[in-house]
This record gives sequence, structure tokens and C-alpha cells, in this order.
Amino acid sequence: MTIYRATVIDTPDDPFAGGVLRCDQDAGLLVRQGQIVARGPFSDVRALHPHEEVRTLEGGMLIPGLVDTHVHYPQVRAIGGLGKPLLQWLEHTALPEEARLADSGHARTLAQEFIGSLLGVGTTSALVFGSHFPGAVDALFTEADHAGVRITTGLVVSDRLLRPDLLTTPESAYGESVSLAQRWHGRGRLRYAVTPRFSFSCSDAVLAACGAAFADIDGAFVTSHVNENPVEVSQVRQMFGGTSYVGTYDAHGLLSRRSVLAHNVHPTDAELATLAARNATVAHCPTSNAALGSGLFPLRRHLDAGVRVAMGSDVGAGTGFNLLKEGLQAYFMQQLQPDGVPLTPAHLLHLVTTAGADALALDGVGHLGEGMAFDAVWVRPPPLSSLAINLRHAADPDEALAKVFALSTPADVERVWVGGVDVTR
Ligand code: GUN
Ligand code: ZN
Repeated sequence: MTIYRATVIDTPDDPFAGGVLRCDQDAGLLVRQGQIVARGPFSDVRALHPHEEVRTLEGGMLIPGLVDTHVHYPQVRAIGGLGKPLLQWLEHTALPEEARLADSGHARTLAQEFIGSLLGVGTTSALVFGSHFPGAVDALFTEADHAGVRITTGLVVSDRLLRPDLLTTPESAYGESVSLAQRWHGRGRLRYAVTPRFSFSCSDAVLAACGAAFADIDGAFVTSHVNENPVEVSQVRQMFGGTSYVGTYDAHGLLSRRSVLAHNVHPTDAELATLAARNATVAHCPTSNAALGSGLFPLRRHLDAGVRVAMGSDVGAGTGFNLLKEGLQAYFMQQLQPDGVPLTPAHLLHLVTTAGADALALDGVGHLGEGMAFDAVWVRPPPLSSLAINLRHAADPDEALAKVFALSTPADVERVWVGGVDVTR
């Protein structure tokens, strides 16, 4: 067993429901076989366990492993394609990159780059948009298994309006999804996500095949995109004979407690009510929404409607893997709206940790209390950096955390653990 001694900050109680930040300046976390079995003031934990090894994490703060609920594996090298709205960005920036994953050797290289990028910023769990090619999805599962990171992913399927090499049929969509799930779903920390790309590129027949796969893979997830861009939204409504965007998924049984839809920047009230009734989650991806000019996320309407919200980096439309930067951008986007939700540092930490774990139904992940997995990130800036200077002068934990959201970069991620194993890149 090991006692980790650190300043520990987490959000076991939802700040959107009145919870406050939990901070222990000098905490002891006793970790056995990857799980936190005791937490308290270091001196107390030490007194009860005088013979255990102590690992002192001096300076900075220990926070829970970050949970990214929307990130695209084939787009590692597509980050930074600025200046285009969604449909043009897909055609000219994202999809040419995605087509390259037909080559399994290339896919294996990207899988390594992708998993390394997640761990490099302290993301220890993620719901990942896979590839249109089964071999590439297999490569991602293989690499994730090797790295020990908690990954839920699957085969992306579409049968229209994308470049032809990315299209499939309803029969292949079902068959290949189920066969990948048979190989990987429930193995170690891996799970399967049925993944229609978006209703824009999916006929009713492919969505029905996805519904069938979801019904047949016990405990699977569903992920897709919804209501991201006004042109896309109006075209989907036309293609589906006036059905709402959310309704196109609901019609095929794709909305549930284990469904995560990215964006939802332009929902109707009826769509929000459906998402709440189905207990689905919306992945808020604020740097992507800003970069593609998709719009301002209506967080207040989601909260008022009772829709779960978590965070996604949406790499490569998003501007990087760093979820702390997404948290800051979420804050900015609310500040810019007349009825925006004033987000505190506790809200931001909750959104990138506990809310994500909740969205992905990862019991035992999301905060650093007793009984939880030791999935953790030690944020420790170099001593002369602006973040270190600001942290030394922070008046209280909320202020210190605000400084981390404002100033931290991946260079400040000193160490990362998943299930007690040091996976630092
Ligand atoms: N909608 C369909 N595919 C994509 C994608 O790759 N990125 C984003 N942001 N939206 C999408
Ligand atoms: Zn996306």
C-alpha cells in the first residue's frame, strides 16, 4: 500500500445542486490495489498506517483524472483547421484525415499518438469517436488496453453524404459493430459505443441497425452528434420529413442513460425535454463550438430542463486535448451570454471530472474519496512559472483552482495515475 500526501481538490457533491469544493491542504490517501481505501489528514492516515510507503507530492495540487466525453481518435493530426463552418471543415479538414485510417499501420501509429495525447493532459477516461474502419477501431482498443486507460469507443457508421470510402451499409454496420463488441466490450477497462456519425450522414436504415446493435450489446453506450450547426440542423429536419434532430435518434431507441450526444447548441425545448426524459447526456465542447462558429451553448436551458451535461474536447474541431482549457472556454462562453450560467471553479472541476464519470456511468471514478479508484492528476507547475507564482498567492482553494483553469498547460501535468498505476507520458 502507498500513502499519497498532497493538497487534494475534488467535487464529490455536485456544485449545480449546492455542493462545494472539497479541499484538503495536507491530505493522506491510502491506496491499495488501485483503490483509495482511506482518506484523511495526512497525520491521521500516517498514524493508523505507520509502516506504509509515503509518496509526497510537494507543491501544486492533486485532482481527479479528467473525463473527456467527446473526442475523435482519427483527428489527432487535424487540430487547428480554423476558418470553416462544420460541413466544410468535415469535407476539407477532418474526413481526408479519417480516410487515411483504412491503412491499419497508419491507424496503429495514430492510436499511439491519440492515447499518449489523452494521458499527456491527464485524461484518464474517455468516450471516443472511433473510426469508420474496423481495423482502426481494433487498433485503438488494443492500444487503450495496453495503456490501461478507461476507453469507451466503437465503429463510426454512415451511409450517405460523406466521401464514398467512409460509407457502409446497414448490414455491415450491424455486423461489424457487434463483432467488435464481442471482441472488446467489457474487457479490462474497455467498453463498446454504438456510433452513428450524425443523422445528416445516416439513413433511417443505418440508424435502425445502430438501434439493433445497441439492443443486442448488453451494457453498450451510444454516441453521436446533434444540433451543432444551423445549416446542418435544418438539413436534417428536411431529410427526415420534419422530425427533430433529437427525434431521429429517439425513433430508433438510441437515447438512454448510456447515450451521449455532442454539442446540442441549437435545441428546441421539446428536444431538451426528450433528452431529459431519456436520461441522456450532452457533451459540451466549447472550443469546438467557438472554432467552427457553431454557436453559444445554452447551458441554462439544459440545466432548467434537467439534461445531464459533461465536457468534451472534440479534438480535432476542438483546439486540443486539454480539458482544463475546455473548462475555461465553457466559463468564457457563459460569460458572453445575457442569461449565461456564472460558472465557479467548482462547477468547472465538476464538469471535467464527476459529471463526465456520471455520463459514462463509471462508478468508482470522478473524485478522490474513499472507495474510489486512484485515477488522479498531479498538477505542479515549474516554480518560476506564472501559474506557480499565482498559486503561491492564492487566498483559498477556489482561487487556486481558478488559477489552474486560467493558466495551466499540459506542461504542468507532473504525474498521472489510472487505477493506482503511474501512466505518465
Ligand atoms: N459532426 C459529424 N462529424 C463531426 C466531427 O467529426 N466533428 C464535429 N465537431 N462535428 C461532427
Ligand atoms: Zn465530434
